[in-house]
Amino acid sequence: MATDSITVSKQTHGLRGTITVPGDKSISHRVAILGALSEGSMRVRNYLCSEDCLNTLKAMQQLGMQVIPEDCPQNFTIIGTGMQPKEPRLAIDCGNSGTGMRLMAGVLAALPFTSRMFGDSSLSSRPMKRIIDPLCSMGAVIHALGEKNGCAPLLIEGKSLTPIHYSLPMASAQVKSAVLLAGMLTKGETKVHQPAITRDHTERLFAHFGIPCSISADGLDISVSGPVTISAKDITVPGDISSAAFWMVAASIVPDSELTLLNVGLNPTRNAIITVLRRMGADITICNESTEGEPYGDITVRTPQQLRGTEIKPDEIPNLIDEIPVIAVAAAYAAGSTTIRDAGELRVKESDRIATTVGNLRAMGADVEEYEDGMVIHGGTRLHGAEMDSYGDHRIAMSFLMAGLNAEGSTTLHRCANINTSYPGFRTHLQTLIS
Ligand code: S3P
Repeated sequence: MATDSITVSKQTHGLRGTITVPGDKSISHRVAILGALSEGSMRVRNYLCSEDCLNTLKAMQQLGMQVIPEDCPQNFTIIGTGMQPKEPRLAIDCGNSGTGMRLMAGVLAALPFTSRMFGDSSLSSRPMKRIIDPLCSMGAVIHALGEKNGCAPLLIEGKSLTPIHYSLPMASAQVKSAVLLAGMLTKGETKVHQPAITRDHTERLFAHFGIPCSISADGLDISVSGPVTISAKDITVPGDISSAAFWMVAASIVPDSELTLLNVGLNPTRNAIITVLRRMGADITICNESTEGEPYGDITVRTPQQLRGTEIKPDEIPNLIDEIPVIAVAAAYAAGSTTIRDAGELRVKESDRIATTVGNLRAMGADVEEYEDGMVIHGGTRLHGAEMDSYGDHRIAMSFLMAGLNAEGSTTLHRCANINTSYPGFRTHLQTLIS
């Protein structure tokens, strides 16, 4: 069997133990990008050393940021360029990461040099027009050179930009952040209106680094006035709730489980996975809560009597967009139906996550209806193990390995190497819990 295939089987005992999931992916990208432009030095704790975030770190080193290693790879000191980044000699490799490419594009568009960015085949087929359009209306010059229209590689000729007031056509934190990052380097006020609240890590990091940014009372309008200076300041990245989500679902579906997940980020724009799982009957307790820019705490999940289906509300979708494949797995084990609509954005993630989630659920015997913007899962059918593809998508791989932990027989996921884009150490955590 290929080395990047993983097989699990139905557990004969509960999953029990304590796990520290790695640092948050969204926050890690942003820390590297803002750190690169900052004035002074700062210690970074618990950076996510996954392929995606290491690519962003390397990209920032190409711009002149220094990284001084410390005791372990997740901890290091950054010495920023103090807003004097240099032109990258080589094209920037964004790997699999839409977040890395879209956020960096916002910065590179406003810097006085030319840069190139490319990614793997999945990233080269994801839409970049969504950031190219607003950035070009600020005066940026960005060429999408991909075989597919509007896709990477990107050639960016940096320019001095003019501020805009931009209304996002979709609820996307990546697009919001690309515009705000360009705006912080641009003279005047750049304002973004979002149709629904999306993750606010950029705004929280702006506050952390002393960048003036204002947010309307309803949270939908964010503005930044540039050009700014960024004062380096030590930071600790909390654990990634999107990685913790796999274990929350595993402990909810494998009988007699009790898992504790330490130091998990609990940002209210990211924690709908907890609200939704609780609504489905999950037994989740949170303790040791604290806030350092971002709220975090320890989460304990015990197997409930029975999960039940739910309807995910449209305004919850952006808050749990990355957790939908694993929520769909929980739904397949729940009594009753679960409705997930208004989630068309899933079609342009690392894979078409509506098609890949529905296809894999069906391969395991689940009863699922597919819609253009989501799916309805009729839970309660007995799932059986299956041999499935991850489609090179880290979250599909991990979601269906969780599904396999309570399905009859054994479950194999092929092409799991991409798990390293977000969750290095996943295999070790899995092995520790099931051995
Ligand atoms: C992210 C935003 C989301 C999410 C992605 C990370 C971010 O994407 O799916 O994994 O860090 O801003 P969209 O902005 O495309 O919804």
